[in-house]
Amino acid sequence: MSVEDCKLVELPRFLDTRGNLSFVEQLNHIPFEIKRTYWIYDVPGGEARGGHAFKENQEFIVALSGSFDVKVDDGVNKKTFNLNRSYYGLYVPAGLWRELGNFSTNSLALEFGSLHYEPADYICDYDKFLKMKENEEI
Ligand code: TYD
Repeated sequence: MSVEDCKLVELPRFLDTRGNLSFVEQLNHIPFEIKRTYWIYDVPGGEARGGHAFKENQEFIVALSGSFDVKVDDGVNKKTFNLNRSYYGLYVPAGLWRELGNFSTNSLALEFGSLHYEPADYICDYDKFLKMKENEEI
């Protein structure tokens, strides 16, 4: 997997004077079955989250409120996506180093995952990640 396999997906939007509505569906806008949903909020200024890679877990990340950057890295190339609209989601395949940062005040990051929480699926050491990429283990 490379950073080019990350995809920014525009979600449906129903604009309404009563307020707008967007939605996501698994195996439609999100290209996997959702096993887990979690969210990150109340991030103090300057903090970063999620500096790790997943061996198998795929993700879909939405900035439900505010904005933040998602930095992805395949061991060769890096790319930064700024998420700042609740009607866009970023698909991140497994096997990429990724980090969330530059959170705006009151931002809310919603993350859908293809696996249940499984610590063994995490690669938290960047040098180990680079070695695994070199050896094509992920
Ligand atoms: P952590 O992996 O450090 O968050 P980040 O993705 O920002 O690096 O997770 C923080 C804590 O939350 C850690 O103790 C594990 C726990 N956790 C769960 O129990 N289930 C989950 O789905 C997630 C994402 C985290």
